[in-house]
Amino acid sequence: MTTAYESYRAVGRFATAPMMDWTDRRCRAFHRMLSRRALLYTEMVTAAAVIHGDRDRLIGFAEEEHPVALQLGGSDPAMLAEAARIAADRGYDEINLNVGCPSDRVQDGRFGACLMAEPALVARSVAAMKAAVAVPVTVKCRIGIDDQDPEVALDALADAVVAEGVDALWVHARKAWLKGLSPKENRTIPPLDYDRVFRLKQRLDAGSRPVFVGINGGIGSIEEALALAPKVDGVMLGRAAYQTPALLLSVDRQFYGEDTPDGDPVAVVRRMMDYAAAECARGAPLSSITRHMLGLFAGRPGARAWRRILTVASHRPGAGVEVIAEALSAVTQGASLSDEAA
Ligand SMILES: Cc1cc2nc3c(=O)[nH]c(=O)nc-3n(C[C@H](O)[C@H](O)[C@H](O)COP(=O)(O)O)c2cc1C
Repeated sequence: MTTAYESYRAVGRFATAPMMDWTDRRCRAFHRMLSRRALLYTEMVTAAAVIHGDRDRLIGFAEEEHPVALQLGGSDPAMLAEAARIAADRGYDEINLNVGCPSDRVQDGRFGACLMAEPALVARSVAAMKAAVAVPVTVKCRIGIDDQDPEVALDALADAVVAEGVDALWVHARKAWLKGLSPKENRTIPPLDYDRVFRLKQRLDAGSRPVFVGINGGIGSIEEALALAPKVDGVMLGRAAYQTPALLLSVDRQFYGEDTPDGDPVAVVRRMMDYAAAECARGAPLSSITRHMLGLFAGRPGARAWRRILTVASHRPGAGVEVIAEALSAVTQGASLSDEAA
């Protein structure tokens, strides 16, 4: 029989990170066309919003997105359990708790990274969520906050949630400094410490049950991800996956051993045109779709024209899929010009 650890390990080898305002459902639809297997995270949604808000807008997703994990923010165990139940009933494959976001707004509500200082509360939240849903319940955290010693703080958080049956720990391998840094600075200034995450994995491996540990933070390419993968159970890419999404094209082969050729970005654009046509027909502004696609041809001939056409023309009133076709022809022409030059 496959254990919960083995089943999660089969799914979570490669994940795209939860990113507010970035990994919305349109972004995830696009990323899913680039990789059939990568585990996709939503933006963080607070438990209160899931319970009281417009659910279709906040947590609606398409069947094609599976496997897809909802990230919740909060620290009230009963509310988190309720939100988790609602999300699991809607078909989410996993519920993740945010213990890593450093923004002030989040600190006021006593959730996000400041929970690194409250392992017992996080553990109670995980226990309540586990009792409410059958799908995996996971935590995304930092290695510590402020003047915490990461050797102590990460183990304390991990042990507390492992004792309650957490299914995976995704660790952003740097501290969050809650005073004085913006959220953006908190993703670059505190130094990365991958070794700390490797030590956590080794330590948990010596425990009574195997626990999935995934690594996140500063992973810039598939090559870097592959280099880290043997020391952990999974790798999670945020900014690199968003800004250079073509890297997702080799994920199914490189991380899941699929015996298929890497996807073709031009074919993906054609599929995105069908998707955009359907979404625009339902009233979506074209730019809400194309904004996630700007980096698709980064580093390739025609990349600048692609980005420029999508950025400028998508905002014109009544803009439709012809804008994507125009941008794509700039790329294919760019490519043939450079072929001639070669
Ligand atoms: C625009 C943006 C929004 C983010 N929003 C969230 C969020 O909602 N929840 C979360 O856990 N992390 C959030 N993060 C952090 C990422 O999930 C990730 O931990 C971080 O960017 C480091 O990974 P990377 O170097 O691969 O980007 C966000 C990051 C960015 C760039």
